[in-house]
Amino acid sequence: MLSRCLCLLALVALSSACDTWPNSTETKVTWWQCSSGPVMVTNVNPTDKKGTYEYPIRLTEPLLIATTINDPKSTYSSPGLKQTIKVWSWNPNTCGWTSVPTFGLLNNIDACSNGVPCPIKPGNNQIVNLELDFSDTPAIINLLKNDKPYQLEYLLHDDVTKEDLCVIFQARALTHS
Ligand SMILES: *[C@@H]1O[C@H](CO)[C@@H](O)[C@H](O)[C@H]1NC(C)=O
Repeated sequence: MLSRCLCLLALVALSSACDTWPNSTETKVTWWQCSSGPVMVTNVNPTDKKGTYEYPIRLTEPLLIATTINDPKSTYSSPGLKQTIKVWSWNPNTCGWTSVPTFGLLNNIDACSNGVPCPIKPGNNQIVNLELDFSDTPAIINLLKNDKPYQLEYLLHDDVTKEDLCVIFQARALTHS
């Protein structure tokens, strides 16, 4: 009797373990900060280039990640501020995120000439529009299936202050028009 119960439990666990849309990404963006300050992120909102809320996000054209931050003290600018973006796709078979190769194209590049409105200055409650543009990296976008959940890590590292600002977000994305 006990073993039959356990078996049933295991089956239930298996069948419910994997969501097609992890973390409710079907309808909304999920995000969290992956750095510990000094800059703190209080909100993340995906928009189109005109600033209108957009969901699912469309990676076929440039979009903005409207990020609300509190920056207590530092000014960040070129050439110190570097950007690294990592991408994962959702694997419903393993219920996990699989890393998508970015071929070094998005690795430690000059942030200020790649979508970050520089300089970022001290101040509370500022909205920084981080531009995300995969339309000029077909090598990456061509690997991404249309209308699936994706996870992105957006890391800004400042070589001058050695400070990091990092946000992970998960979103439903359209990758083909
Ligand atoms: C869902 O979001 C939480 C943070 O809100 C995160 O810790 C967790 O790893 C996410 N789950 C998946 C499957 O990515």
